Amino acid sequence: MRERFVVEGLNGQKKLQGEIAVRGAKNAVLKILPATVLFADEVELQNVPHIEDVDRMRELLEGLKTNQTILRKDIAERFRASIVLTGPVLARYGAVEFPFPGGCVLGERAIDLFLNGFKAMGASVVEDDSYFKITANGKLKGAHIIFPLVSVTATETLMMAAVLAEGETIIENAAMEPEIGYLAEFLNSCGAQISGMNTPVLRIQGGELLRAEGKPFVVPPDRIETGSFAILAALAGKDVTITNCDPSWLNVPLSLLAQAGVLVETTQNTIRIRGASEYRMVPVRTHEYPGFPTDLQAPMAVFMSQCAGEGSILETIFDGRFRYVDDLVVMGADMTVMNPHRILIRGPKKLTRKNLESPDLRGGLAYLLAATVAEGTSTIDNAYLIDRGYERIEERLSKLGLSIKRETSQ
Ligand code: EPU
Repeated sequence: MRERFVVEGLNGQKKLQGEIAVRGAKNAVLKILPATVLFADEVELQNVPHIEDVDRMRELLEGLKTNQTILRKDIAERFRASIVLTGPVLARYGAVEFPFPGGCVLGERAIDLFLNGFKAMGASVVEDDSYFKITANGKLKGAHIIFPLVSVTATETLMMAAVLAEGETIIENAAMEPEIGYLAEFLNSCGAQISGMNTPVLRIQGGELLRAEGKPFVVPPDRIETGSFAILAALAGKDVTITNCDPSWLNVPLSLLAQAGVLVETTQNTIRIRGASEYRMVPVRTHEYPGFPTDLQAPMAVFMSQCAGEGSILETIFDGRFRYVDDLVVMGADMTVMNPHRILIRGPKKLTRKNLESPDLRGGLAYLLAATVAEGTSTIDNAYLIDRGYERIEERLSKLGLSIKRETSQ
């Protein structure tokens, strides 16, 4: 059974109105679930979004009940975050076996940082046809790990492994995404000793299993969903208020929207956006936090297609994240891929309807935005890719006045 979204475009008009609440962050819940392996007791999670990737991670955790150290291949191969489980499992049970993780195809997504980190902590790594087998050789040992590049999941995985290791681990050139600091604070409240949160140097003193003792982990609001809604509201909103969010985690994207001419007003946990009739082009360069998030790159390209002038996007994190461009060009956008890291965009250009197929999660969301702006009715196949990160998006966007529905076909 296949599902697709059908969107009636607004033909450039700014009509959406009302409030939309942000759900819990995918890239936070996908890390707290593996973190539960570090605990002696149960952890209650609150504000968990109903998205596909959460179900997959739960299935992986279920699988560990039968075999403590093997991540099920058929599931782990389907999403990148599966690799985060390797750190806690290795630290707690002394071994872990897992396949190369799947996930959105965004270019090469290597796992050398993980493997080298585990080796630095005293583990041995054996790779056969389809599995990596890692053995801790006793307890993992604290180590001084220097990342050659910044990786979100490698930072989280090794930070969690270090929580149960012997002695101190230092991670240099660590990622500073706010979800990482948020997770570390929670682990600390349950007995971990992590310092240096939100800086590039993390220090972790290893210790015993953690205890939540009834303290819930409240999943923080999804920063990328917040930004996606802000871009949607800029493109098609008359007056939209995004609630249950943390605008301070989105300073760079929000300031770029404001620079383009979008009316942006924030409080501590809301963002009100009023669309304007004309926007100025803005330059975008993706960067690790606190820079412009790569996960908002494709949605922002749609916004830029509606701005006056010429601008470019420099994608510095991934080398295959422009797969959405060809379809937007067919819809009428003026975009040129200069190389795997740079596109040029000229606007504003009128977009027209197209039958689309999501290339990946964020690319799919970008298509949804393009379909909203376009003239005519567009369809977006592979709805499940959008469902991986956005809970029942059609129900929530309908409430803002967008004509969007989910269709099922054989
Ligand atoms: N990299 C390596 N070796 C490694 C690990 C990473 O070369 O061992 C490279 C990657 O190939 C990439 C760069 O480092 O070029 C950064 O990748 P990173 O590891 O930071 O990405 P990730 O941890 O796999 C997380 C998010 C992504 C988000 C990126 C960047 C999760 C589950 N995923 O991925 O989210 O784009 O950080 O912020 O946290 C999404 O939500 O749509 C998504 C793709």
